[in-house]
Amino acid sequence: MTKAGPPEELFLGIDVGTSALKTVLVDPDGDVCFEGSAEYAVSNPQPMWSEQDPRSWWQALGESLEHMAAQGARLDAVRAIGTAGQMHGAVLLDSAGTPLRPAILWNDGRSDEECRIFETRLPEQRKLSGNLCMPGFTAPKLIWVERNEPEVFKRVAKVLLPKDYLSYRLSGDFLSDFSDASGTLWLNPQERRWDDRLLAASHLTREHMPEVFEGCQQAAQISRLAAAELGLRPGIPLVAGAGDNAASAVSLGITEPGAAFLSLGTSGVLFAPTATHRPLPEKTLHAFCHCLPDRWHHMAVTLSASDCLRWLGGVVGRSPAELDGLASARTNTGMSLLFLPYLSGERTPLNDSDAVGVLFGLRVSTTLAEMVHAVMEGVAFSFVDGLETLAAAETYVSRLTILGGGAGSTHWRQICADALGLPLDYRNSANNGPALGAARLAIISCMEGGLDERIANVCRPPGIIQTHEPNASRHEQLRATFENYRSLYTSTRDLIGAR
Ligand code: XUL
Repeated sequence: MTKAGPPEELFLGIDVGTSALKTVLVDPDGDVCFEGSAEYAVSNPQPMWSEQDPRSWWQALGESLEHMAAQGARLDAVRAIGTAGQMHGAVLLDSAGTPLRPAILWNDGRSDEECRIFETRLPEQRKLSGNLCMPGFTAPKLIWVERNEPEVFKRVAKVLLPKDYLSYRLSGDFLSDFSDASGTLWLNPQERRWDDRLLAASHLTREHMPEVFEGCQQAAQISRLAAAELGLRPGIPLVAGAGDNAASAVSLGITEPGAAFLSLGTSGVLFAPTATHRPLPEKTLHAFCHCLPDRWHHMAVTLSASDCLRWLGGVVGRSPAELDGLASARTNTGMSLLFLPYLSGERTPLNDSDAVGVLFGLRVSTTLAEMVHAVMEGVAFSFVDGLETLAAAETYVSRLTILGGGAGSTHWRQICADALGLPLDYRNSANNGPALGAARLAIISCMEGGLDERIANVCRPPGIIQTHEPNASRHEQLRATFENYRSLYTSTRDLIGAR
C-alpha cells in the first residue's frame, strides 16, 4: 500500500559507527523515509591503538542531517530521537564538558596489562560485571590513562560512551542505557545499576558516570542550542538508545530468546537474547543487558570482520565491492589458503590482543581472488568459534539473520552459511541496523499501551530478501579446514613475540 503524502511525524535514529555516522528518518510505522551518512577516519597513532576525535562525530551528525534535508526531509517534523553506536569507547570529558583526548575505541588493544590490574584489584570483578576484563572494554582503558597520562586522568569529570557523547551534545545531559553500559565493566548487568566496587577498581566513582536508563526510556530533551545548530525542534525527547548490537537486534525484531543475528560489520558479532543474565566470563562470552527491560543477551565478538576486506582492498588498491566480484567469479582451483582474521587482535574466543592476521599457503600461482576467498572464509571461521562459545553457555542457535556492510556480498553470506552449517536470512534494511533500531526505540517511547505490546508492534522482523541454506558437503569440508584454522593460530602464536 502506498502512503498518502509526507508523514506529519518522523523519528530520527542516529548510529555513531566506527567508519561513518548514519542517520535514518522513519515514519510512525517504522518505514525508512530518508537516510544520511558522513564518514570519518580512525587514527592508529601506534600499533594496537585505535582512536577518534569525538567532535568528528558531532560534525558528522550535522552533515548527515544536512544530507537528508537536501533530499527533502523536514527535520522540524522529528518527534523523538534515538541514538546507537560503537560500544566500549572511552570519551573523557573535563568539567566543562570538553573532550580531554581522542576517544579510545572498542578495537584498541593497548590495555592488556591494565586488564590484569583491574582483575587483581578486585578479584570478584567477573562475578560482579558478569564478564571477563578484555582490552576493548572501557574500564581497563581508564586504568591505562591513569598510568600513562596522569594529568589527563586527574581532569576527568565524566566518562561517556560514543553515542552518549552525542546525547550530551544534543541535550546537555549525561545519560546512557543498560546495553551499552554493560560493555564498560562498571555495570552490574544482573541488577541493572552502576557498581561502586567496579568503579573503585578503576579509581572512579558514580560522579564520573552518566545516569543510566532502559533504551526505550525518554531520558532528556533536545536543547535550544543543539536544535538551532541542527535544524531540529527544541524540547523533543531523546531516548537513552542502545549499543550498536542491541540496536541492530531491535531493528531485526530480535528481542526474545530463540532468534539471533550475525553481524558482518567492521567487527563480527553473534548476538542472541537471553531471558536472564547468564554469564560465562572464562569463555570470553559477552553477557550484557539488552536495551529493553527484563531482557539480556549473549554475544561473541570478533574484532575484524568486514574490516579484513577493507584492509586487503587498501593494500591492493581495490574497493571491497571489486574484491567481492573477483572472489565470486573465481574458479575453484582446490588451492586452500588459510586466513586468520586477527588484524586487531581477537576477543572471542582467544582474548588475545597480540594475535595477528596470518595468510598461509601462498604459491607463485596464488591469485588475488583466492586471497579474497580465504579472507572471507577466515572471517566465517571466527563466527564458528563464536557459535561454539554461545553453545558453551547453552545458547543454541538454529537460524541467523545476517546484516552489516559485509553482508551485502552474496558470496560471503553463502560462505558463512556453509561454515556455520545454519540457514542465514538476509533481510530488508540490513544496512541500517543500528540507526533503525535507535529510531524504533524512539517510536516505542512515544506510543500508548503496555510495554510488551508496544515492543511486539514495533520490533517486527523486516522482510527476507534471500535465505542461504548451508550446503552439506561444503559444510563437511569446511569443518575439516576449520580444524586447520585453529591449529594455525596455536602453531604461530609463539612466533608473535619473536618478530
Ligand atoms: C561489541 C564490539 C563491537 C562494537 C562495534 O562488543 O566491540 O561490535 O560495538 O561497533
